[in-house]
Amino acid sequence: MTPKILVTGAAGFIGFHMVKKLCASGYQVVGIDNLNSYYDPELKKGRLAESGINAGPLKENELVTSAKFPSYRFAKLDIRDKSALEKLFNTEGFDYVLHLAAQAGVRYSITHPDEYISCNITGFYNILECCRHWPVKHLLFASSSSVYGNRTEVPFREDIPVDKPVSLYAATKKSNELMAYTYSHLYRVPLTGLRFFTVYGPWGRPDMAYFSFSEKITNGEPISIFNNGNLQRDFTYVDDIVDAIERLVNKPETEKEAEPGVKGSALYRILNIGHSDPVVLDTFIRELEKQLQLEAIRINKPMQAGDVLTTYADVSALESIIGKMKHTSLTDGLGRFVKWYRAYKNLPVPENADKSAV
Ligand SMILES: NC(=O)c1ccc[n+]([C@@H]2O[C@H](COP(=O)([O-])OP(=O)(O)OC[C@H]3O[C@@H](n4cnc5c(N)ncnc54)[C@H](O)[C@@H]3O)[C@@H](O)[C@H]2O)c1
Repeated sequence: MTPKILVTGAAGFIGFHMVKKLCASGYQVVGIDNLNSYYDPELKKGRLAESGINAGPLKENELVTSAKFPSYRFAKLDIRDKSALEKLFNTEGFDYVLHLAAQAGVRYSITHPDEYISCNITGFYNILECCRHWPVKHLLFASSSSVYGNRTEVPFREDIPVDKPVSLYAATKKSNELMAYTYSHLYRVPLTGLRFFTVYGPWGRPDMAYFSFSEKITNGEPISIFNNGNLQRDFTYVDDIVDAIERLVNKPETEKEAEPGVKGSALYRILNIGHSDPVVLDTFIRELEKQLQLEAIRINKPMQAGDVLTTYADVSALESIIGKMKHTSLTDGLGRFVKWYRAYKNLPVPENADKSAV
């Protein structure tokens, strides 16, 4: 039997790439997303069109089949709508769930805290409840490197204490990890939390620096350099994450003691998923300038509330399960992003740019 997987946040950046990968790997895929307007919903509709779904006539909570991938169906559905979610689980019977839907973004959580509590806490609770009542073989969910807060010892390992989140976004992701442990311990839901590290690539997110910097640089507008550029990020190319997750789906955790000195067990683990080669902001901007063949106008600004100084993934735990991760270089990854960006925005391609397909 073809395994069936639910992907939440399927019109989002990572979800869109995951759907394509899972269809190619022989899964029956059901995608859901509420297509909210945190960033331009046209980009989300564009991703859907790219996966064969016409977003125009979509009706709430109704599955439509992709014109491109026969094994893919999509519904506009909000994970806060518990009864719609329950109906979906009841009628579909999923083998696996990949939960990516969330209110993302650190800075937005300062101004719009409500969205984070309702989507990331209540929405996640609804997913856990469904996986409890309609059991699945493995529920994987997106956590974030932001749970490490302002820890200074690097690289970040999953077993270091992470109880000092510096944004509400990070606090909701840490809460998800705790709720997941409880559901695994009490109801034996096999769970894996994935701490993503600054994912970038084609069809990416306009609220993230690589995308907004590209927009500003191509428009001749200045870019803000926070903390004098004294920030490091473990930029991870989207295909590398997607490839690793696909290899992890059918490898749930087996029964394991919580940790030495703690009674109780669960089918639960937390894994970093990142590039393990952080770069300072300035190196990143110079690489982007090279790819765009344009110079940025820089304005120095102080550190922003909620931001962290560094992120750096130790991925040895993940690699002990799936083998070596793919590691696309920043040059190659940004090159592919810029090529997509120029095509998406109908920008002229410089004479000496690589013109092969993305
Ligand atoms: N991109 C990164 O660098 C990064 C880093 C760390 C963690 N993450 C996490 O990975 C996941 C995917 O991130 P992404 O970069 O693809 O973000 P994204 O915003 O592009 O995708 C999330 C999708 O979820 C949908 N969504 C939000 N609330 C919903 C709701 N209530 N019901 C249904 N759909 C809803 C949105 O419309 C969006 O399409 C998120 O959980 C995010 O927090 C991403």
